[in-house]
Amino acid sequence: MSENNLIEIDSGDEPMSNHSDNPHFSNILEKRLSRRDMLTGSLTAAVAGMFGASSMGNLAEAAVAGAGFLPPQVGKPPFALNPTLGFSAVPATRSDTATLPVGYKAQTLAPWGAPLTDSYPAYKADGSNTGAEQEQQVGSHHDGLHYFPMASNPNSHGLLCINHEYVDQFNLHAGGAINTSPRPTDQVRKEIAAHGVSVIEVKKDALSGEWDVMNGNYNRRITANTPMEIRGPVRGSDFVKTVYSPDGTMTRGTINNCGHGYTPWGTYLTCEENWAGYFVNRTGRPREHARYGVSTSNGRYRWETAASGEDQYLRFDASVKATSAEGDYRNEPNGQGWIVEIDPFNPNSVPKKRTAMGRFAHEGCWVAPPQLGQPVVFYSGDDSQNEYVYKFVTKGRYSKNVNGDILDQGVLYVARFNEDGTGDWLALDINNPAFVAAALVKGVTFADQADVLVNTRLAADVVGATKMDRPEWGTVHPQTREVYMTMTNSSSRNAGNIDAANPRGPNPYGHIIRWREQGNRSWAVKFEWDLFLLSGTETDSQMLPEQGGPALTQDSIHASPDGLWMDQFGILWIQTDMSGSQQASGPFGANAMLAANPVTGEIKRFLVGPNDQETTGVVSTPDGTSMFVNFQHPGDRSSASAGFTSNWPDHGAVYRHPGDAAVVANPTGSRPRSSTIVITREDGGIVGL
Ligand code: FEO
Ligand code: CA
Ligand code: CA
Repeated sequence: MSENNLIEIDSGDEPMSNHSDNPHFSNILEKRLSRRDMLTGSLTAAVAGMFGASSMGNLAEAAVAGAGFLPPQVGKPPFALNPTLGFSAVPATRSDTATLPVGYKAQTLAPWGAPLTDSYPAYKADGSNTGAEQEQQVGSHHDGLHYFPMASNPNSHGLLCINHEYVDQFNLHAGGAINTSPRPTDQVRKEIAAHGVSVIEVKKDALSGEWDVMNGNYNRRITANTPMEIRGPVRGSDFVKTVYSPDGTMTRGTINNCGHGYTPWGTYLTCEENWAGYFVNRTGRPREHARYGVSTSNGRYRWETAASGEDQYLRFDASVKATSAEGDYRNEPNGQGWIVEIDPFNPNSVPKKRTAMGRFAHEGCWVAPPQLGQPVVFYSGDDSQNEYVYKFVTKGRYSKNVNGDILDQGVLYVARFNEDGTGDWLALDINNPAFVAAALVKGVTFADQADVLVNTRLAADVVGATKMDRPEWGTVHPQTREVYMTMTNSSSRNAGNIDAANPRGPNPYGHIIRWREQGNRSWAVKFEWDLFLLSGTETDSQMLPEQGGPALTQDSIHASPDGLWMDQFGILWIQTDMSGSQQASGPFGANAMLAANPVTGEIKRFLVGPNDQETTGVVSTPDGTSMFVNFQHPGDRSSASAGFTSNWPDHGAVYRHPGDAAVVANPTGSRPRSSTIVITREDGGIVGL
């Protein structure tokens, strides 16, 4: 989500609500770096002797090994783990279209408003589609996405699951939004329906090579009003009892679906990020509201004021109104902040909120490659300033017959990044003596594990987790199991509170951290970490900084890394979400996607997106020849006075190549639409290689 949106509304993308006294490890960076400097010095000399040259590739590989990371097994099947990036870098640019390397092309697929079933209800270019129609159309603000291949034809037929994070009201409605209270009911209905998830059957036409939405039975919209089951330790607890579900087993909707995940058993995980601001509580917020930033004035879009006064809208007001929780919606916000599991292959399945995995501003949820007979491990970040990195380790063991219920029992851990390059996973578990002792020392009480999980952030405060610079996407190397995670930026970091894992204050450009679990066991409680990349300008950036890597160049400068994906060929794809002046002017151009070789440190800009969008969500077909990428919120600075600041994609210029004339937006031109694009090589080869 961009900060542009924050300026227009009063609920934040990244509200800082962590006022705990957890350490920032002031002044330990120098100690850390001096230790690493010694390491790097001897390594550099050794490598120069070994290779007789100082090629960055050799240096980086050796340096990685020296930092405690085993070098990947280059060239071992099934992964080509040392890819050569086979394209020419796209320059930083601003143009109201995608800019792709020569030799690449793109099409749009499933833009906002596209009908899910053939041609009805058709998208209306003036924004006049109703709420009921939006419920049968692709939602807005595409974010995380995953492609589930069909076994019969995996590279040309599959299900695409797409998150719809939020809406830009001006672009959603004909004539913009009416935001006085009460709000027009159908505008509220449409906004709720534009959130959530789309499940879409897609197929590549054998003749044209173009992908199409199929008119199939799998197609489904899940919205901020879809009934969902509460599973795991919070199910049935007092925290989730409402008028709608007096026994605390059900809730409605999933909100602000940002990053995503998938499971080894073929289900989709959608992740609830900045949900708190959608609710209002005017009668005194309990800790499970206050610590997450539930509003005390009004909901983000004032859904609670819908003129019809229907229950489905009133529920966004969490004020105490009745004598008991079963009589009002004081607990409605406690139904949000979770990982939600969706079975895309069963369109009648009820989505399940997997509460054992914790409640926070979930960016996404990334599984480590599963191992038969071992626990299944998922990583997740809490995208807010000074929040934490988590992992969930199932109690059950992985087998071919496992299903999503394995997610209902396990241990949730939070990360502490120690200054010496080691790390600890700290259990947030009412049955763990260390956790109980830490809570006692802090004077914090938890009644049971449901209480711990509903208050995950507080539990993480208690054990002394490391405050991070807005954890966004993570990705797990498919063979080495190293985990990479973006820290997008932080305006609250400063020289007085930098630490080894968040070494720049202020941190306007962000960085990527990575870790390897002890013994290469994803479920271990100890790990080693280093910094993979300090993003930024040519004079304020560095690959592998602790090993003395090079600065970024014109081909690779970027800021605010957000989306991240290690593909099946070992390419690390990095997507950016700059906002405000960082995006509007300066050296970085519009939001972009870069490709990096984590072995050599090579990094190049692969694409730049249209005006005002963030580039988020990336996945390929198994053979790597079709890559799906999302452009979210093109034209999000549009307004009644400015008109549309983007007309992508309906102006017809879906993409261009470097050197082609820039596309200029027309304020009275077509309405901008978030969309997935499919990128292919003109020669049909693997994208990126
Ligand atoms: Fe929705 Fe943290 O980005
Ligand atoms: Ca994001
Ligand atoms: Ca972001």
